[in-house]
Amino acid sequence: MLRSLFQGLLLSSGALAASPDFQALFAPSLSPGVEIASSSDANFKQVASPRWSVWHAPTFEAAIKPKTEEDVQNIVKIAGQNNISFLATLNGHSSNLLYSNLQNALNINLANFNSVTVDPVTNRMTVGGGVTFGNISDPLAEAGKEMQTGNAVCVGLVGATIGGGIGTLQGLRGLVLDALESVRMVTAAGEIVTASNKENPELFWAIRGAGANFGIIVSATYSVYDWTNQGRVTLANFGFHPSANRSVWELLKSYDDYIPQKLALIPSITYNRTINETNIGFGLVYYGTQREAQPYLDQLAALNPATSTVQNITTAEMHEIFSRGACDAGYRRNVFTIGLRKTDPTTYERTLSDLTEFYETYPDYSGSFAIQRYSNEAMLQVPDESTSYPWRDIGAYMLFDNDYTDPALDDIVENFSRGIRSRFEAVSGFKEPQVYLNYDHGDEPLTQTFGASKLPKLRALKKQWDPLYRFGYANPIY
Ligand SMILES: Cc1cc2nc3c(=O)[nH]c(=O)nc-3n(C[C@H](O)[C@H](O)[C@H](O)COP(=O)(O)OP(=O)(O)OC[C@H]3O[C@@H](n4cnc5c(N)ncnc54)[C@H](O)[C@@H]3O)c2cc1C
Ligand SMILES: *[C@@H]1O[C@H](CO)[C@@H](O)[C@H](O)[C@H]1NC(C)=O
Ligand SMILES: *[C@@H]1O[C@H](CO)[C@@H](O)[C@H](O)[C@H]1NC(C)=O
Ligand SMILES: *[C@@H]1O[C@H](CO)[C@@H](O)[C@H](O)[C@H]1NC(C)=O
Ligand SMILES: *[C@@H]1O[C@H](CO)[C@@H](O)[C@H](O)[C@H]1NC(C)=O
Ligand SMILES: *[C@@H]1O[C@H](CO)[C@@H](O)[C@H](O)[C@H]1NC(C)=O
Ligand SMILES: *[C@@H]1O[C@H](CO)[C@@H](O)[C@H](O)[C@H]1NC(C)=O
Ligand SMILES: *[C@@H]1O[C@H](CO)[C@@H](O)[C@H](O)[C@H]1NC(C)=O
Repeated sequence: MLRSLFQGLLLSSGALAASPDFQALFAPSLSPGVEIASSSDANFKQVASPRWSVWHAPTFEAAIKPKTEEDVQNIVKIAGQNNISFLATLNGHSSNLLYSNLQNALNINLANFNSVTVDPVTNRMTVGGGVTFGNISDPLAEAGKEMQTGNAVCVGLVGATIGGGIGTLQGLRGLVLDALESVRMVTAAGEIVTASNKENPELFWAIRGAGANFGIIVSATYSVYDWTNQGRVTLANFGFHPSANRSVWELLKSYDDYIPQKLALIPSITYNRTINETNIGFGLVYYGTQREAQPYLDQLAALNPATSTVQNITTAEMHEIFSRGACDAGYRRNVFTIGLRKTDPTTYERTLSDLTEFYETYPDYSGSFAIQRYSNEAMLQVPDESTSYPWRDIGAYMLFDNDYTDPALDDIVENFSRGIRSRFEAVSGFKEPQVYLNYDHGDEPLTQTFGASKLPKLRALKKQWDPLYRFGYANPIY
């Protein structure tokens, strides 16, 4: 078991010793013009996909930017035959402790798989495996349609889908993976298969929650919906002085049992280095007019915010606002998360105080702590057993996003964040910790990320489709 799990690591060290000629090995089997670069080549940065975080990053000896399904099939086959470890990525947003096990590997950059086609008659959208959330917003808006997405434009649609996909529209539409109808995927054997409820239904079950373990998705078809409120939202942002914190947490708590489907709440803690002060932000999104949102806006206004803005904007404009700073790449960033069902104001109060001290002690540190509170009404309408995604009952997602430049802080940040996480674990309202896979850190047991009830079937399918562990470096199913 252990051997096969770390086979990629051992074999890639072998690849370093042998240092294959990637051009000679792959080019003859790929379509004309496919870019291949070794890490020492001047154009390597253009060929390899970007990476969001330098923390525990994988290293690549070469990169290929395939153009066709057949290219991807041939790359997977040839890499397999030559024991070359590989990782297919788009913008490299996932960060995870285990990525650094992948050294001197081959990067497969999916950026050429960028097609988006919306069919307003059948209410379907088909995309390439390399489109971002931002890439689908214009084509959908032009058709008067919408689909649930994550909040930031830079994130890969398929990459996020296969681990869940959460965002402000999820109250109305469910998880992003709930919109998935079918995929075309290159398997570990280099075959191309379709997976849907009709074809390879077990594989389709596995892909919707654990997809990065099973292959490379070259195209995906989603259900789309008529847009809500003409594609516009009411977006409000309130800023509170730390002294107001308790009433903010109490307000969040008042939503523990119920939150309207059209409403999304995102309270956060950040630090302003200009004035050396902690700031409590409170983002509010309502998929309707300001008049409809007014009762919720009033609740926040009543807590005496230091600042407040309310905007009537398109969902595309909202996503651009959410992406500012969040999408910036190249820093040491990692995330800690825990799924919540309850709000314990005292835990938040302590966290605010400890974070403030941490910000003051480490001037290089500029992380943020956020809670994403969304309705899970739509996602609960999908039967639990129909997808491998395990945690449809999470009501709020803690997203503790560490951001710094000095590697000397690694252990300090790690220790501090684990402390915060375990504190929230203790008051989450769940018996066992429930971890949203797309936000995981990499140190959680598989029962917390994939779920004990889903693991037996996932393990059996992993054996069937990827027995040699070609896929799933960050979260291997074993
Ligand atoms: C700034 C930022 C904002 C985020 N916001 C949200 C959010 O609002 N909601 C949310 O749910 N998540 C969010 N995430 C988390 C995000 O869903 C995960 O990081 C996800 O893994 C990113 O996918 P990617 O394709 O962008 O990244 P990558 O690192 O390129 O890919 C992630 C994993 O998926 C695999 N993968 C990617 N594409 C494919 C494919 N076509 N076929 C098979 N495997 C593939 C990769 O091999 C890798 O293992 C955010 C992350 C960041 C950094
Ligand atoms: C790949 O690894 C396997 C198992 O370790 C080994 O049998 C095989 O010879 C290797 N192939 C190459 C091309 O190195
Ligand atoms: C898709 O999004 C990426 C990153 O957000 C951008 O660089 C690219 O130009 C977009 N592609 C298209 C076809 O819009
Ligand atoms: C948070 O609120 C509590 C209760 O009002 C208060 O005692 C505490 O000082 C506040 N925290 C900060 C950092 O201001
Ligand atoms: C920090 O505070 C200053 C002064 O109030 C303000 O102008 C600035 O916009 C704040 N910065 C951020 C990132 O909020
Ligand atoms: C903020 O803190 C930094 C570092 O501790 C210090 O250099 C700076 O003078 C402080 N700025 C203000 C406005 O207090
Ligand atoms: C929001 O903006 C749109 C477009 O400018 C406008 O038609 C609509 O009346 C506005 N709604 C509100 C509630 O202000
Ligand atoms: C680790 O974090 C705990 C709080 O969770 C703190 O008490 C302790 O001092 C930290 N240790 C180090 C070495 O930073």
